[in-house]
Amino acid sequence: MTPALTFRSACPSDLEALAQLAHRAEPTGWTLRNFQDALKSGYDVLLACSGEGIVGYSVTMMVVDEAELLEIGVEPERQGQGIGTRLLAAALARVTERAAQRVHLEVRAGNVVAQKLYASAGFTVVGRRKAYYRPLAAGQEREDALLMTRLTHPEIVRAPL
Ligand SMILES: CC(C)(COP(=O)(O)OP(=O)(O)OC[C@H]1O[C@@H](n2cnc3c(N)ncnc32)[C@H](O)[C@@H]1OP(=O)(O)O)[C@@H](O)C(=O)NCCC(=O)NCCS
Repeated sequence: MTPALTFRSACPSDLEALAQLAHRAEPTGWTLRNFQDALKSGYDVLLACSGEGIVGYSVTMMVVDEAELLEIGVEPERQGQGIGTRLLAAALARVTERAAQRVHLEVRAGNVVAQKLYASAGFTVVGRRKAYYRPLAAGQEREDALLMTRLTHPEIVRAPL
């Protein structure tokens, strides 16, 4: 069952705890400096909280009337409980409020859990960048990125004329 969650924007005093959580969720992911730069740049750093603690985060960036999902992660012990699904829905609602027409993201070709999350939320694969990501471990090859996208109002294009 999905735990009780609240969502709120991150503030500077959250960033140390957020960076520690992000490092546990995705060791090759964002650092404290990346989150600090994101807040300074006006990106939407969204936190999912359970009780007092942060259990998930997402970062989205607006570019004119489109948005990019830059990061999303859930505390490793809480993964698979629906938190990522609710967090992604909350992040999409926020970029929709900011008038984004479309949302883009990149994901490692080997990250099947994240791809499931995105596909369930209506994202489709629209391209591939060869050898885009650094290897996750020494001795491994660079990894391709899949480019995924979705309209913020997919019902508009599906509606009969
Ligand atoms: C990707 C991530 C954010 C998903 O969050 P989550 O809370 O675990 O996701 P949910 O519980 O909402 O599940 C989302 C989907 O993934 C599936 N899933 C979750 N954990 C899974 C697992 N261990 N194995 C297989 N599928 C899994 C769920 O069944 C669900 O699929 P569905 O939508 O088809 O039902 C989380 O796994 C994470 O933080 N991963 C590390 C960071 C990362 O990879 N971020 C994405 C970078 S692009």
